Amino acid sequence: MTILEVKNLNLGFQCEDIFRQALFDVSFSLEKGEILSIVGESGCGKTMSAMSILQLLPKTARITKGEIIFNGENLLTKTNKDMQHIRGSKIALIPQDPMTSLNPLYTVGDQLLEIIKIHQGLSGDAAYQKAIEAFDMVQIPAAKSRLKNYPHEFSGGMKQRAIIAMALACQAEILIADEPTTALDVTIQAQIMTLLNEIKNNNKTSILLITHDLALVSENADKIAVMYAGRIVETANNKEFFTNPKHPYTNALLKSIPSNREKKLETIKGQPPTLSQQIDGCKFNPRCEYCMDICKKEIPNLKTIENEHKYACFLD
Ligand SMILES: Nc1ncnc2c1ncn2[C@@H]1O[C@H](COP(=O)(O)OP(=O)(O)O)[C@@H](O)[C@H]1O
Ligand SMILES: [Mg+2]
Repeated sequence: MTILEVKNLNLGFQCEDIFRQALFDVSFSLEKGEILSIVGESGCGKTMSAMSILQLLPKTARITKGEIIFNGENLLTKTNKDMQHIRGSKIALIPQDPMTSLNPLYTVGDQLLEIIKIHQGLSGDAAYQKAIEAFDMVQIPAAKSRLKNYPHEFSGGMKQRAIIAMALACQAEILIADEPTTALDVTIQAQIMTLLNEIKNNNKTSILLITHDLALVSENADKIAVMYAGRIVETANNKEFFTNPKHPYTNALLKSIPSNREKKLETIKGQPPTLSQQIDGCKFNPRCEYCMDICKKEIPNLKTIENEHKYACFLD
């Protein structure tokens, strides 16, 4: 069952007197109980795509076209108040830096209890029991004493677990995790991913996992969408993606996965374009080793090959 569908999303920024488009017809869908990963180099539009869903966009950003259908309703027609409710209870954000969602002035327990009160209508001992359950669920040990701690007394990994506990406490149907483990070391990263997988399996929660780490994607995502310069250039299920990648950019990304995670990442030659850089045709053409004449003139559409596997390239 499709729970979220982003359709032809276009977004841009008002930069003084000029409007620069940053997302071009971005479309993807998220099924119930599935992990969809959006991957691509820094600046390709992953965060703006995610924040459009939550409508937590910078002041200068404007969505100029598209629909975001959640449970049959277009979120782009909702009021701020509706969106506040949806963010608090249906779609939760797990940010890269957990401190952006934790208040340093209150104990983690108080913040969790507040959410339980609002979303589950519980107070007193019943709420407290739920808070302990939530901490147990995300494997924060010694829940009772941990609830009394302030955010700064938690390590990075524990803060991220606390945020996930809060998302669970509000019984969110979708978790949007924007580079949730980038700031964590590799062991903790794996633990957080295991936890997200458990939540997916046990609660049928859908997860939008944004990352630039393809090794993490191969182990965790059911479906992958690759973005380049504001466009989705390839999308496929995990098996298809890693066994039959089609887009030259996907192939370049796959080649840059280090076999040993400690090794320095090999990067793709050249840089992705900035918003102000004008490139005719396919925006990957200056970096593409297969570039043909047509690639410098026309923008390739996404074509479907099989099993929802789509890619935007003139090559067969
Ligand atoms: N507040 C902003 N004002 C102008 N441009 C922005 C702003 N935030 C992001 N951008 C631009 O939008 C594009 C997409 O950014 P973003 O979605 O954050 O990329 P990603 O998350 O993939 O690194 C980038 O070119 C970025 O420079
Ligand atoms: Mg980002």
